[in-house]
Amino acid sequence: MVAAAAIGVCYYPEHWPESMWADDARRMREVGITRVRIGEFSWSRLEPEAGRYEFDWLSRAIDTLHAEGLGVILGTPTATPPKWLVDAMPDMLAVGDDGRVRSFGSRRHYCFSHIGYRRECARIVSELAKRFGAHPGVVAWQTDNEYGCHDTVRSYSQSALLGFRHWLQARYGTVAALNEAWGNVFWSMEYSSFNEIELPSGAVTETNPSHRVDFDRYSSDQVIAFNKVQTDVIRARAPTHQILHNFMTFHVDFDHFAVMDDMDIATWDSYPLGSIDVFERDLVRKSIYARTGDPDLQAFHHDLYRGTGRGRFGIMEQQPGPVNWAQYNTDAKPGMIRLWGMEGFAHGAELVSYFRWRQAPFAQEQFHAGLNMPDNTPDRAFFEVEELSRDLKMLGDMGTAAPARVAIVYSYEAQWMLREQPQGRNFSYIDQVFSAYRSLRELGLDIDVVGTNADLASYALVILPSMPYVPDAFASALKAFQGTLLVMPRTGSRTRSHHIPDNLAPGPLADLLGIKVTRVESFRVGSAVPVTYDNETFRFDRWREFVEVKSADVIARDGDGHPALTRKVRACYLTGSPDRALMERLFGRLVREAGVETQILSAGVRMRGRGRYRFLFNYGPDPVEVSDYLKGDIVVGGKRLEVGDIAVAREAR
Ligand code: GAL
Repeated sequence: MVAAAAIGVCYYPEHWPESMWADDARRMREVGITRVRIGEFSWSRLEPEAGRYEFDWLSRAIDTLHAEGLGVILGTPTATPPKWLVDAMPDMLAVGDDGRVRSFGSRRHYCFSHIGYRRECARIVSELAKRFGAHPGVVAWQTDNEYGCHDTVRSYSQSALLGFRHWLQARYGTVAALNEAWGNVFWSMEYSSFNEIELPSGAVTETNPSHRVDFDRYSSDQVIAFNKVQTDVIRARAPTHQILHNFMTFHVDFDHFAVMDDMDIATWDSYPLGSIDVFERDLVRKSIYARTGDPDLQAFHHDLYRGTGRGRFGIMEQQPGPVNWAQYNTDAKPGMIRLWGMEGFAHGAELVSYFRWRQAPFAQEQFHAGLNMPDNTPDRAFFEVEELSRDLKMLGDMGTAAPARVAIVYSYEAQWMLREQPQGRNFSYIDQVFSAYRSLRELGLDIDVVGTNADLASYALVILPSMPYVPDAFASALKAFQGTLLVMPRTGSRTRSHHIPDNLAPGPLADLLGIKVTRVESFRVGSAVPVTYDNETFRFDRWREFVEVKSADVIARDGDGHPALTRKVRACYLTGSPDRALMERLFGRLVREAGVETQILSAGVRMRGRGRYRFLFNYGPDPVEVSDYLKGDIVVGGKRLEVGDIAVAREAR
């Protein structure tokens, strides 16, 4: 799709007079941009009424960009079906779990299960691919826009209901098998036909978790099928073009690994300041990093999406200044626009594309900054992008992301299962994964975030966060793995149908770990359980398990004398949710025992390797000395690293 490291921008030619386009394209090229994403919300301009296509303007826009040597990533417009289409097919609208129709007037107003809407998508995408599939200016396609944004994966429409019943029939064959799998004898929930099954909402109290987890799986499968309709059409007409989608921050409602089976490159939309405002619960941290973003959040997603993209990823939308959608929309500290971009490249991104070229003076996103102000004066981000492009020239070919020795296994299904039966209000899969990631990264490590299909052979240490259902193939891979394995609580505690396994947790990992979990408890953070490890006292802060040790060593015990950490050969099991201090101490020891070199980093200083380069980023709060962290020739930056600045060293071979 792109050069090894390209700078891009999101552009909406349909928002501006055509007389501006040529100048826009020239200035894009001059600032160092080589890729432009366009078109993803333009259906009402591409097809103002059913069957009347108006593609000439888009063709002229692509020609104009192409004339400046810019490669176009063409977005399919399916996130914004036009009014005439919605009116012709009103049942294509999604329905919330409150039973209300999610109407026209913003975006993403469609139900993934609606077959008629899928056909309409196939039609418009096919027309676009017919027209632009061989255009030399188009280098790649983006399907739709941010699947799942605005909580749109699960829809409770009639189409979803009928689709779900079919899906269940295909999965279980007979309704008796479904009753068995869901345990419907409980509370007399048995069905005598698939047609009796409803969507899991509107019941008096909690619906059956097996029912809900299957609905999560079904809903995820609809996103995959919806996307495949488009990739099939594009591949037929534009076989040489790359296809991608722009994923989001901490979004878990569909299986991104599965979507990527039909795609070439995973991209994601990185909004560091919007994200810290939305996701950070610790108010002190939120304020320290309000203008820089969390030092690990961007990196986590780079590593996750590089994992989903089997090594290929990029940033499709990079925040350029204040956004419009968080509760509070802070401005970025000077330097951060360049830093975020470079950090993406350091993690192996092929593309960092800024959102958007020019701030829109109308409609919903008027407060959202761009590279240019609404009056077309360059904004601060413009100059930072210019600087980033000079940095890139200096670095030349950076190669690929340095191989990591440590991996975290990530599972969307684990997240659904834990969400559907959390058992402790504060138990959060994402919190656990992200804390694990942060603890490892503070040790200066390069990390991979991988799915259950990844080849684990090259890792010295694998962390397996809570994964209730461990598929057989993955259990075998874990048994064959030769490095150190740390398994976190709740793993193997459910079957695929969401039952407790016959042999209790950790189910298929019982022999590997040499333990059996006999009881669990959850608690408020205030009532933490002390854990003695490494001659110090730490805590389990939300969850504890009581285990029977069959054939493992007990490495640490909790304050009541119960095993807190066990180890059988190379496989360790933690029986509770560790606080940050315990995670850091334990991971540090495991990493060093596994023979991986570490380097303790101060608060907001982070590192990443790509090819022969090592990158250093300062998220704050204080300046640091570069020589404390980097060896080799410094090719970008000076001796001192200010907050919001970057340094890059070329390592001696
Ligand atoms: C993204 C979206 C863009 C734009 C942007 C604003 O979620 O893909 O279209 O709305 O947010 O930050």
